[in-house]
Amino acid sequence: MNAQTFDWMGQAISFRSGESIAAALAAAGIRQFGADPLGQETRYFCGIGACQCCLVRVEGTVREACITPARAGMRVIPMEASHD
Ligand code: FES
Repeated sequence: MNAQTFDWMGQAISFRSGESIAAALAAAGIRQFGADPLGQETRYFCGIGACQCCLVRVEGTVREACITPARAGMRVIPMEASHD
């Protein structure tokens, strides 16, 4: 199967079909996903959508990285990164 990737801050992140954004980032060695609006570092924690520790922006919309499937070509950024 061809490698699929999405963009994280200019880095192409590979993922397998059905894999979550958080799992793909973690596999790439990225376990902290930037600051939330309160300045707390977001990260991969519960993995089931309960703790809200892994929030990122996917194409401008805030999502839980641990339960949002990765899709080829999408752009994912930290919550507080510029998203214009
Ligand atoms: S890691 Fe807990 S909601 Fe994603």
